[in-house]
Amino acid sequence: METIHSLKEMQVRALALKKQGKTIAFVPTMGYLHEGHLSLLREGRKRGDVLVLSIFVNPTQFGPGEDLDAYPRDLDRDSALASEAGTDLLFFPTSEQIYPAGYATSVDVEGLTDTLCGASRPGHFRGVTTVVAKLFGIVQPDLALFGSKDFQQLAVIRRMTEDLNLPVEIVGMPIVREEGGLAMSSRNVNLSAAERSQALCLVGAIAQASNAYGEGERRAEVLIALARQRIEQEPDARIDYLQICNDSTLADVELADNQSVMLLSVRVGKTRLIDNHYLSRPQRDIPFCRFKINTWLSCSG
Ligand code: PAJ
Repeated sequence: METIHSLKEMQVRALALKKQGKTIAFVPTMGYLHEGHLSLLREGRKRGDVLVLSIFVNPTQFGPGEDLDAYPRDLDRDSALASEAGTDLLFFPTSEQIYPAGYATSVDVEGLTDTLCGASRPGHFRGVTTVVAKLFGIVQPDLALFGSKDFQQLAVIRRMTEDLNLPVEIVGMPIVREEGGLAMSSRNVNLSAAERSQALCLVGAIAQASNAYGEGERRAEVLIALARQRIEQEPDARIDYLQICNDSTLADVELADNQSVMLLSVRVGKTRLIDNHYLSRPQRDIPFCRFKINTWLSCSG
């Protein structure tokens, strides 16, 4: 694996690889890699001739007072993990290269970014789409892999790629969870032991709603109330949002169906965590979820 610090060098290398007919698979990250990131890299390894990973803690997607400075960083550890997962090129630019003096352009996806994380983190998605569009220009990927843990981010990036006719295939990947069910996140390292156990309320809330859905409950209001009860059992958990939305428009639904996703953001102590799940898809990776596929199929009509 080779580490590239220079933006220009990365772009020149990418253009040369394309000229040789190589397929570039790209995984953009903010680093502090965990199994979630590594699952994207492993899939990228299978799909591309060349696998590029970027690590850039993008300042423009953090609001004032958010955890930009506290965001965990460890390049040595990341390099070892990335290399083990089969990465060919690790792109690690500086902020000054990405946003030089005089930088004036941003990419805004309207509508989809008004709700959920977009409502609670104004400007966040503008930062994400701008940096991802720039990274696509630098890395020239044929395909780029994103996790569905950031469900809204994936929807917004798909929209941007389609709207701007960017020649990049967007590949969405499943959520990777820790053994207890907590969705893996670089931010989990900021949780104390007590907070980590309270953080299980996110997946617990999803399981409550999924179980009720499996028993035939379709009213979003009722499913949300059940999930809310589970979160409110934890003394340090504060709901940022808890919604059931259509998977493509992200609009709230009144009656859940097989296109409905429960999306939630909960602050546990100072750490903001997100999670989501299709209510109609009880999965092996959701602990406490009683309903197996056969059971709910028989009652889903
Ligand atoms: P980051 O939070 O580092 O995540 C990088 C990629 O890893 C994203 O596509 C995210 O959805 C995926 N990911 C994170 N946790 C995951 C999990 N538990 N299971 C599966 N995939 C997971 O998302 C960002 O960085 C940034 O916003 C970025 C797109 C890089 C733009 O700055």
